[in-house]
Amino acid sequence: MPRLKALSLPHSPAINVRAHQASFILASMPKIKTLQSARRVAAALLPPEDAPDAVPIWLIGGNGDAALKDLTDAQRRWVEARDWSPKQGSVLLLPESDGGIAAVLLGTGSNGAVKAPLLTGVLPGTLPGATYRFASKLDDPELAVLGFLAGLYRFSRYKDDGQAKPKRLVMPEGLDRDRVLALAEALYLGRDLINTPANDFGPAELEAATRELANEYGGSIKVTEGSGLLADNFPMIHAVGRASDRAPRLIDLHWGSEHAPKVTIIGKGICFDTGGLDIKPASAMLQMKKDMGGAAAALSFALLVMRAKLPVRLRVLIPAADNAIAGNAFRPGDVLPSRNGMTVEIGNTDAEGRLVLADAISLADEEAPDYLITIATLTGAARVALGPDLPPLFSNDDALAASLLGHGEAVGDPLWRMPFWAPYDKKLASSIADVNHIADGAYAGSIMAALFLKRFVSKAKRFAHLDIFGWVPAEQPGRPKGGEP
Ligand code: BES
Ligand code: MN
Ligand code: ZN
Repeated sequence: MPRLKALSLPHSPAINVRAHQASFILASMPKIKTLQSARRVAAALLPPEDAPDAVPIWLIGGNGDAALKDLTDAQRRWVEARDWSPKQGSVLLLPESDGGIAAVLLGTGSNGAVKAPLLTGVLPGTLPGATYRFASKLDDPELAVLGFLAGLYRFSRYKDDGQAKPKRLVMPEGLDRDRVLALAEALYLGRDLINTPANDFGPAELEAATRELANEYGGSIKVTEGSGLLADNFPMIHAVGRASDRAPRLIDLHWGSEHAPKVTIIGKGICFDTGGLDIKPASAMLQMKKDMGGAAAALSFALLVMRAKLPVRLRVLIPAADNAIAGNAFRPGDVLPSRNGMTVEIGNTDAEGRLVLADAISLADEEAPDYLITIATLTGAARVALGPDLPPLFSNDDALAASLLGHGEAVGDPLWRMPFWAPYDKKLASSIADVNHIADGAYAGSIMAALFLKRFVSKAKRFAHLDIFGWVPAEQPGRPKGGEP
């Protein structure tokens, strides 16, 4: 770790230098436990052999459901006394005659109900600590288990969840445990990264998290930091991040065989977005710790790819910075140079994401990757267009777009395709620079941001861009309120 050399203390008495250095280095290492909560999820998923004592969970499709006919008379009276009906997501515990829990009923809704692939995620929120198993035949056992684990997630860094008895699930027979755990770990990692507030998660911590992930799975990492960004020609990442006392950086993670198809994913890593000199109002700034949601999603993706050893050459690029306010902040009206030589007129310092992404895209594009994907909490306009749960997907490749849409829908993580609408591109014209990074007026904000990014793509074979929200504003099955990669 060459960066640690910069921390040596030249003025310490020689004899003390080593001990002093050691404690200084320890004190200045960012304190994060990147994979701790992700690793804990494994304890909640028991192998099928452990089934005998587990409380059965019955999924109930309607009032005529066969499972209801197997209830004892006492249990049937209990269902009626509680006036319970199998509405989608409603849960009922059935008592044992000795006072224990005999079974759990989960209403799945009738055929006409909107599908809720992670419906089993309502269970951990309502069930007491115990070990459970699915007793019904499941349409998609993997999603049922993933839903449970997704609903079990709590962000417990600053207070424990007060739960004395753990909630556990016995895996259905025949499921690939490693695969479902990988999915849950990736989800937990991404949520933890987003939920950690900006005072404990700046560019250095984002770097440390990436480093920990790379070390765990045999990736390599290169970081260009502070004035190094100017020396190595990433002028816009530097301009956006220079006003913070936490140095901006470009984090570059590599993994896999050089001969495999090259997949490069770029995640927006703005650790806090004040808006810069075009400062955000309080209500809009409140949530801006989540502005590294794209970076979190990219690292979740990296965990999956590396853990499953997919036959790809993965590259993750994270431009990490605070969009802060200080005398040396970049200004509205500035013209910035960019990595690929284009000059960029700044229309609004709050549109910082596309600037840091553009320099990273230029770097990625230089090696003509087979797939180039950007993922970013890029615009409020994306949420105005499609709401918090349906991120716009932009792509110049129909097959890639179709594949992403199809997979998203199948696992209850949908995307909606929006166009790189070429006729709007001219709205990015600037009278004094090669390009303006925003358009006049409030129209088509998500498309305009996507069009700006696309200007920096030339050699990549396929390009896709996701404008994500990164947050669940109100709890849903399997989606606790908070960060969502
Ligand atoms: N990080 C924000 C976008 C954002 C806001 C995402 C709220 C999710 C929820 C981004 O940096 C931003 O501030 N964008 C501006 C762009 C505008 C100034 C052209 C926006 O969307 O208002
Ligand atoms: Mn912003
Ligand atoms: Zn932002």
